[in-house]
Amino acid sequence: MSKEESRGQWGSRSGFVLAAIGSAIGLGNIWRFPYVAASNGGGAFLIPYLVALFTAGIPILILEFAMGHKIRSSVPGVFAKLNRKYEALGWFQTFISFFIATYYVVIIGWSFSYLFFAFTGAWGTDTKAFLFGDYLQLTDSPMNLGGLNLKVAAPLILVWGINYTIIRLGVKNGLEKANKVFMPLLVVALLVIVVRGVTLPGAMAGLDYFFTPDFSKLTDPKVWLAAYGQIFYSLSICFSIIIAYASYLPRKSDIINNAFMTGLGNCSFSLISGIGVFSILGFMAHTQGVSVAEVSTAGVGLAFIVFPEAINQLPGMNGLIGGVFFSTLIFAGLSSSMSIMEAVVAAISDKFKLTRVQALNRFTLASGTLSLLVATNGGLYVLDIVDYATNQYGIVIAGILELVILGWVFNLESVRIYVNELSDFTVGKWWVWAIKGTSFILVIMLLLKIKGEITSPYGGYSLTALGVYGLGVMMIMTVGAFILTKKKGSQEFEDKIYDEPMSNELELELE
Ligand code: ALA
Repeated sequence: MSKEESRGQWGSRSGFVLAAIGSAIGLGNIWRFPYVAASNGGGAFLIPYLVALFTAGIPILILEFAMGHKIRSSVPGVFAKLNRKYEALGWFQTFISFFIATYYVVIIGWSFSYLFFAFTGAWGTDTKAFLFGDYLQLTDSPMNLGGLNLKVAAPLILVWGINYTIIRLGVKNGLEKANKVFMPLLVVALLVIVVRGVTLPGAMAGLDYFFTPDFSKLTDPKVWLAAYGQIFYSLSICFSIIIAYASYLPRKSDIINNAFMTGLGNCSFSLISGIGVFSILGFMAHTQGVSVAEVSTAGVGLAFIVFPEAINQLPGMNGLIGGVFFSTLIFAGLSSSMSIMEAVVAAISDKFKLTRVQALNRFTLASGTLSLLVATNGGLYVLDIVDYATNQYGIVIAGILELVILGWVFNLESVRIYVNELSDFTVGKWWVWAIKGTSFILVIMLLLKIKGEITSPYGGYSLTALGVYGLGVMMIMTVGAFILTKKKGSQEFEDKIYDEPMSNELELELE
């Protein structure tokens, strides 16, 4: 069997769509989306969010589905096939996933601990002191990592074990089957949270806060940029995942309809989880006699401080509801983490003379070791800065380069014809303009971000910390990308990818 045949393939259309939605729906939907929406105009945020979904998210999903499907390679191979000099962009995107994997697994590990704590009530009444003190034993600065925190490292090893086992089983028997189990469980768990949430006293105040539009915010460019940022991270686009997943599509596969299902599935999930989260925050505000704004916070704080507090105040079944909430984080997290890892494993095994399992072993050793840094007492700081650097800069830069190369250097018309021939319904020329136009929006995003950084560096961290974990990671990604590009690939890779570079017209043809 040639390497091409042994790469693996999805067993069914629903298997692929479920896996793509599984990758999209992740930690970002449950804790990031509700807060980003509420702090950027509430109900009015849905306008830029839907605009970003239809003008950037779904068009890029179509593009990445098409490129992975046609070239049948993970992202370095796709860009190398366009032209050898673009391969480094593929590795840069792969490095983004590599670094996201190192902290993503740690948050899933915390969720396992909290699933357990939900039943034992270990977090007590001061949930903030519990998280930062008893559980994380957080140090005073990112430059003081302290020692390895065994309470975090133990569940982390479990999370690595689950991901390793699934990925080792392959595309059809591992990833596809795991998503068929995790995704229905996730939906059931989310519904339990939503039903419990909306039937609590005060829920309506929370939903009012979430949905009441503040249209004045629509004139603020930051709101639009937040919407675009959320769409990129959430749909797993421009950082290697979707292309890797699409490279396992059978030849006869729909592209456009699948992209719409993935984009709309992900965004509906975000909205529903927002309803669950805000109704529970509304209940909490009601119990404490404060406003919803006062109890809502972002990220780690929302899931691991505010939610445990809300769970304490529930009138009954506290342990069970707490357990279900942390299960949603676990199911959503695992179905995304395996896609993040698969993208890296596929990139390594596609280029080098390594089997999938050999590539997986090397990846797990490297990323697993680095994730132990995030499991130290100062790990939360590392996580926060690496997350910020990879999302706010890495994905934006990778997105700009990808869209400029594909949208402006190459001619996307033949890709449009290619996807139209394959799909249940077709896209017009607007699709090409959506890709071209989004590249400008990303450039504006990047410039505004850099301007903001100069006036107030991220998170109040010291420049040393931002330099080491932020800029340092970006440098490793860039230098690493060039080094891996320079390395000679397996004969199969050389033959398949470098033999016939594509013309600027692309000329994709159905096989
Ligand atoms: N798309 C994944 C998430 O939203 C990475 O968490």
